[in-house]
Order: sequence, then C-alpha cells, then structure tokens
Amino acid sequence: MERTTAVIPAEDIQRQTKYCAEIKVLNQQRQVPPMAYVDTYGCQQNEADSELIRGMLADMGYEITDTSDGADVIVINTCAIREHAEQRVFGNVGALIHGKRKKPGQIICLCGCMAQEAHVAERLRQSYRHVDLLFGPQALWRFPELLRRVYLRRGRVFDVDASDGAIAEGLPVRRSGKLKAWVSIMYGCNNFCSYCIVPYVRGRERSREPEAILNEIETLVGQGYKDITLLGQNVNSYGMDLGSGMDFPTLLERTNAIPGDFLIRFMTSHPKDATDRLFDVMRNCERVAPCLHLPFQSGNSRVLRAMNRGYSREEYLDKIQALRERVPHIVLTSDVIVGFPGETTREFEDTLSLIQEVRFDALFTFIYSPREGTPAAKLDDPFTREEKQVNFDRLVEVQNQISLEKHQAYIGTVQRCLIDGAGDDPRSSLKARTAGNRLVHLNGDSALIGQFRDVRITHCSTFALFGELI
Ligand code: SAH
Ligand code: SF4
Ligand code: F3S
Repeated sequence: MERTTAVIPAEDIQRQTKYCAEIKVLNQQRQVPPMAYVDTYGCQQNEADSELIRGMLADMGYEITDTSDGADVIVINTCAIREHAEQRVFGNVGALIHGKRKKPGQIICLCGCMAQEAHVAERLRQSYRHVDLLFGPQALWRFPELLRRVYLRRGRVFDVDASDGAIAEGLPVRRSGKLKAWVSIMYGCNNFCSYCIVPYVRGRERSREPEAILNEIETLVGQGYKDITLLGQNVNSYGMDLGSGMDFPTLLERTNAIPGDFLIRFMTSHPKDATDRLFDVMRNCERVAPCLHLPFQSGNSRVLRAMNRGYSREEYLDKIQALRERVPHIVLTSDVIVGFPGETTREFEDTLSLIQEVRFDALFTFIYSPREGTPAAKLDDPFTREEKQVNFDRLVEVQNQISLEKHQAYIGTVQRCLIDGAGDDPRSSLKARTAGNRLVHLNGDSALIGQFRDVRITHCSTFALFGELI
C-alpha cells in the first residue's frame, strides 16, 4: 500500500531555501540588520509553526526580536478556536497601524488558522489595509516565496485558498526552549466535531514519515533536550494515511527506544481512538511520561452525539478505567465545553458528575463559542450566556477543589522532576515539572536548570506544588 496524502517534493523545499538566501543577500546590504517579530496565539501546534517561521526568518537574515516595536517584519500567527481568540487578534492587528505609520516599510503578515477562514480574510482585505501578507497554515512552507513577493513590492499578497495540505520536511527551525521541544508528527484533522473550526482551517489528517520524526527526536536528544512533546490534533490516528501499518503506539515504542535521558509526552489524544494497546505501551515504555490529556468535552451522551465525538459517557469512563488499571498513577487532564447549543442544566449535571467520578488532575474549561461554518453554529441555542456562565462557574469550583485535593496527596512524596527554568519569586528561585507535568516551585541554584532531580513536596496550592531538593 502507498501513502494517501501528499508530500512536498524536495526540489520545492529547496526553492524556498533559495528564496531565503536571496532575501538574506538583500538584507545584508542594509546598514542595520533587519528585525523580525513573531507573535503566536492558540495551541502548541501554532507554537511549533512559529518556530519554523522564525527559522525561515533567520535564514532570510532577520534578527528575531521579542517586540513588534520597530520590527521590519511582524508575523501574527493566529488561532480561530473561539471568538475571544479572534477578537484579541483583530484588536492587536488593528493597533499595529500606529507602528506602521512610523515605519512605512514595515511588512505585516498574518498567518495561522484565522487566515484560512474566508470571512476573516475578506475583513482583513477590506478593513485592515496595513496587513501586507495573509497565508493559511497549509501554505506555511512557502512563507519565503510569499514574503519575497511582498518584499519586492508587488503589493499585498493573500494566499488563502482552501487546501487539504501536505507534508513539508526539511524546513529550518528556531526553537524557543533548550529543554523542551515540540515535534509535530501529523497535521490537520478529519474528525469534524460539530463545534470545531480546526478541520476547516487545518486541512486533512496527514502524517510525517516515522523516520523523519525519529531522526528529529534523536537530534533533539543529542542536543540535550529532555522533554519532547509529540503533537497532532489527534495523535491516535497517526499513520493511518501512511499505508505502512505504522500506528501511534508503535511510534511511541520506537521513540522510547532512542537512547538518552528524556521524557516523551504527546497531545492530543481523541478518546474514540485511544486503545488498550496505547495504554499498554504507556505502561511499558519508561520514557513515556505517566500523563494523558484526554478531552471528554461533555459527560452527557446526547450532547456527545450532537458534538459528533464518536463515544458515549460510558465508553469514555471505560477507557479511563482501562488506563488506570495499567497505569495506576496516571496524571489525567482534559478539556470540557459548557453550554453547547441546547445543553440543558440536567445534561450539564452529567458533566459535573463525570469530573467527580474521574477526578482529573486539571481541566481546561471553555464556554461554547459558535464558529461560522460549523454545524453546531446552526443549532438552536436557547440558553443565555449568563445561564452558561453559572454552570461554568460551578464546574470550575468543583474542579478546583479536586485539583487541590490531588495536589495535597503529593505532600510528603518524592518526585523526580525536570528543573526547567528560573522561578518568578525569590523564595522559589526554580521551576520544575514532575513526570506527570505538574508544576513545582522550589529553591536552588540556577546551575540545576536542565537536570532531573528528586524533590520532596512540602506544600501545595490548587495550581502548583512546592518542594525542596533532596
Ligand atoms: N484536537 C483536540 C482539541 C483542539 S481544540 C481534541 O480533539 O481534543 C482545544 C479545545 O478547545 C477542545 O478540546 C475544546 O474543548 C475547545 N473548543 C474547540 N472548539 C470550541 C468552540 N467552538 N467553543 C468552545 N470551545 C471549543
Ligand atoms: Fe476539533 Fe474534534 Fe478535530 Fe479536536 S478532534 S481538532 S475538537 S474537530
Ligand atoms: Fe487555534 Fe488553530 Fe490550534 S484554531 S487551537 S491555533 S489548530
């Protein structure tokens, strides 16, 4: 069997490399080195994409700065998941006009998931005339070519045609951290949950070849990275398009076989495709971190059906049980949506009871936000924002109590933690993460950053643990 999704030919990637070199020559003729700023909204996938954008900008001779003030190129990598995220982007992009008036040659680019929404592209075209370049996530690998077109002053460039997307290997990357790294293993989503915009803006599911992924991880481990997160909208469908029988649990096993002292995490897992085999692999692979982010979205089976999630409340709970039988101390986190169109308070009670039954370590809670073009946005929604807020607040309160109790259970235990940075308080000069990814504040020498160390947990709050080095 052959793979069913497209791969960008190496020559096409090389052409982009050539464009980078060409722009670099132009940039080197300038007296002051030009600066580029990349601002990122949304999920880890976008963070990973921004690292590629910075890589390409660096290859084009730009210095990367952390402020838009006075930058020669500004790239806003956007998220479309909820209305609030989009409003923030519109506000911030609108405000860039002042900087551009002071620096007329400035190039403003907007990319990411919002760029792929037709109504957003139209609004930017009409009302945000200071935006020079717009391109969607599937066009990311052609950024050098697109920027070059703007650079050589051929007016505004909008590259936002709908596209299934392909796999582009060999793009330069400039990572933000030295210990933690994102590795995209696949792109796009085929699940079409009825509330979600992602499948419309990120194209179809497509997997990178395992060798490319494993080589990248091996390189990262060689460079000293200690905490590697495999990314995809639903990593559990990794490999389905490859036609080679490769699947996600097997990829995890092969990653686990790479020598070195590092942890492997992954996100996100869709419950419908989370199998006993995945849980077995998690139990058996010592480098795979004992934590799982398994979004349940709702605890009510009618709502789950309306969401097109492909599992019922009972099936979700069965998966959790199967996982806990194999990995008893698993740290569990999840996403939940309150106020899906037509969700009654009785149905919401099922969500509350599910979190009380599962007792997640932490929860990401969202109020439903209608997304233009999705099936759910067309459903009747008789409940007001205020009514939804009441349920939302109840949910957060119940979860905060559970999170606190879960943290209290750590007190007195010893956790092997990765010390991953400086703290923001003189009493806890270091930050660390347990294997299960819980945040730990502690005191110690900054020379310890980058090391795995045993930490005794002494106290806690709802959102963090506090400990001391042993
Ligand atoms: N691929 C991941 C989710 C990515 S989006 C998965 O399937 O688990 C992250 C979270 O945003 C989702 O899990 C969901 O809880 C939330 N979300 C997505 N669309 C939303 C919407 N229209 N309104 C509110 N929350 C939404
Ligand atoms: Fe959205 Fe569902 Fe795909 Fe997650 S699995 S990205 S929630 S459509
Ligand atoms: Fe947002 Fe796109 Fe991620 S919509 S959550 S940035 S995939």
